Amino acid sequence: MKKLLIPFLFCTLLVSCNTERSARSGDPIDRRVDSVLQLMTVEEKAGQLTLYTSDWDVTGPSIRAGYKEDIKAGKVGAVFNAYGAKYTRELQEIAVKETRLGIPLLFGYDVIHGHKTIFPIPLGEASSWDLEAIEKSARIAAEEASADGLHWTFAPMVDISRDPRWGRVMEGAGEDTYLGSLIGAARVKGFQGNGISEINSVAACVKHFAAYGGSQAGRDYHTVDMSDRVLREVYLPPYKAAVDAGAATVMTSFNELDGTPATANKYLMNDILRNEWGFQGFVVTDYTSIMEMLNHGNVADSADAAAATIKSGVDMDMQAGFFQYELPQLVKDGKVSEAELNTAVSRVLRIKFQMGLFDDPYRYSDEQREKSTIGKPEFKAASRDVARKSIVLLKNSGVLPLSKSVKTIAVIGPLGKSKLDMIGAWSAAGKGDSAVSILDGIKAKVPSARVLYAKGCNVNDDSTKYFAEAVSIARLADVVIMSVGEAAWMSGEAASRGILDLPGAQQKLVEEIHKTGKPVVVLLSNGRPLTIPWIDKNIPAVVETWYLGTQAGHAIADVLFGDYNPSGKLPVTFPYSVGQVPIFYSAKNTGRPRDPNNKYTSKYLDIPNEPLYPFGYGLSYTTFEYGEVNLSAGDVSANQNLSVTCRITNNGSIAGTETVQLYIRDMVGSVTRPVKELKGFQQVTLGPGEFKDVVFALTPEDLSFYRKDMTFGPEAGKFKVFVGSNSRDVKEAEFELTNEGNSKMEFQVKATKKDL
Ligand code: GLC
Repeated sequence: MKKLLIPFLFCTLLVSCNTERSARSGDPIDRRVDSVLQLMTVEEKAGQLTLYTSDWDVTGPSIRAGYKEDIKAGKVGAVFNAYGAKYTRELQEIAVKETRLGIPLLFGYDVIHGHKTIFPIPLGEASSWDLEAIEKSARIAAEEASADGLHWTFAPMVDISRDPRWGRVMEGAGEDTYLGSLIGAARVKGFQGNGISEINSVAACVKHFAAYGGSQAGRDYHTVDMSDRVLREVYLPPYKAAVDAGAATVMTSFNELDGTPATANKYLMNDILRNEWGFQGFVVTDYTSIMEMLNHGNVADSADAAAATIKSGVDMDMQAGFFQYELPQLVKDGKVSEAELNTAVSRVLRIKFQMGLFDDPYRYSDEQREKSTIGKPEFKAASRDVARKSIVLLKNSGVLPLSKSVKTIAVIGPLGKSKLDMIGAWSAAGKGDSAVSILDGIKAKVPSARVLYAKGCNVNDDSTKYFAEAVSIARLADVVIMSVGEAAWMSGEAASRGILDLPGAQQKLVEEIHKTGKPVVVLLSNGRPLTIPWIDKNIPAVVETWYLGTQAGHAIADVLFGDYNPSGKLPVTFPYSVGQVPIFYSAKNTGRPRDPNNKYTSKYLDIPNEPLYPFGYGLSYTTFEYGEVNLSAGDVSANQNLSVTCRITNNGSIAGTETVQLYIRDMVGSVTRPVKELKGFQQVTLGPGEFKDVVFALTPEDLSFYRKDMTFGPEAGKFKVFVGSNSRDVKEAEFELTNEGNSKMEFQVKATKKDL
């Protein structure tokens, strides 16, 4: 009976209900939303704004018992950490068949870098600078997640981070606003495909809004305090890029900003996200973050917290239960208006209608589709492809690539045999035993070689009792491949580190193996930049492999033995010492830039200013030569662009892919400007001896910034433009942006004489 009632009710109300909003919007979904809204009690509305975790995974500090009873009581609108066609169907049936109105649940999960076929951690994928590959990775994640009963992923995480002590640097795209914005948009497009009504799409959730990566001292959940200019210029653009790409939902961040936690920050949620950016979807809090405002101290009690949150423009409460407990009474007491409540509920219902869940609540819970979709060979192939592209060659004095006819290889290090660590943090439904270890990848690549293994030490303790065994197998080998770094749990959420050296006795192990005099390759598996100056100085080959996912071992072997010429570039600066942090390439010049001949300039007494490896850095097995940078003033009346051309030549002996990077510097502004800003990049693949004239078009928009008066736009004056293989090794040219003072603000771009 109940089953029949619901569609009937919706249909009749669909016809008869003609509220002002639906009449105004004319959108049939709005009419359907209104028809459901009319039927709901205040308690049911509060339930729709409530997201509870199931007990299949733990991603936060608390878990509630009895979430199934809550669903049955109509107190839940969405569930996370539950997946699988069978299980989601079971939970959905409770909601649809056993509640008064049968409103379907939304199922969400942290599908961050793959669902069951795991891809490189996002910081790893960002090292590929391959937007197409990154979008494809998210697309495949959506294919698997949607086949596994999931409607919604809590991704992409687009938090800019300039502090590698912060464990969640692994989850984003690194330190740069321009690169981070492009990658955030690519991930949203991958997750949502041709729209969230498509059965193989999941709704994206861009997070964590906002500026979570700016937490003090790199300590997770810590205070964020910055100028509105830095917020808007550095941290906000990636969220906006994701919203502009159509992200269906947004997640708030744990941190406060300018004294108000993001969870109830009206400036962020209403003023910027909705009023300035026109965001139409719904906003969900992070895990129990409404309750955590009692710790922040900006609210007195749970009722206060719930009211402040919904009034700021936040629509759904993850795991605190404060909306469910407090909103009905707040509405009855007039402290939250029914209109405010309806606005939030409408946003949630709208997404459910758009995803077709009212038409078929079980459309994502199809066991046959689950079986035929998850783990497809082409998904594994795509994972291996982007994994290879994510590998960054940091040093190579001739040891790499290795010959496939090598006789004896010693693989030494605590991560060499690990499968679980290869899928990294936030690997959600990924199972470690499905990953290919580094040792397995090497054995598969050179089946005729004798491959020895010794762990040498543990990841995170100081014991040296396994050193002797490792030294003994090193002595037997023609080449030693060391696998060191962090365990996967040492980055990700709540995993800040105050020391960025290799943990435990690993550095000592590398030094012991170095003493054998054998050629050594160090492979890093880590979720953040590490401080490895000794290794960089003394070890002939150093390779950054991050955590590359299900196909890690194969991808690494492809690079080690030359089946793939490494092309990765760092999306984050590697400090020489943690004492330099925060350190990033787009820094300001200061009034006393370092001058080695002048004591009174900006420097340290005991460490250099320069990082170990700069942003954008990565080597190849071939070498690329950069010609001079040539400028030509574009057609001002048409598109006012400036053409920047640089010839790139592969002067090595093998083909390779180079990410050519374009930076600018605004020499004088109404406010100080960074010494470099990334404004473009192009990937070129060149055979031995081939060259290409790479052309970039710079427009006044590219030169725009938040000026003294906080308006956004360009300013006339002198600029430098740089083209290079990273943010340090560049060729430069100069140009001037002039304003002819016409009635219409036009900028004449004049290239300086010497370049014409
Ligand atoms: C966690 C994370 C957030 C995640 C959520 C649900 O605390 O901060 O990124 O999506 O809880 O697991």
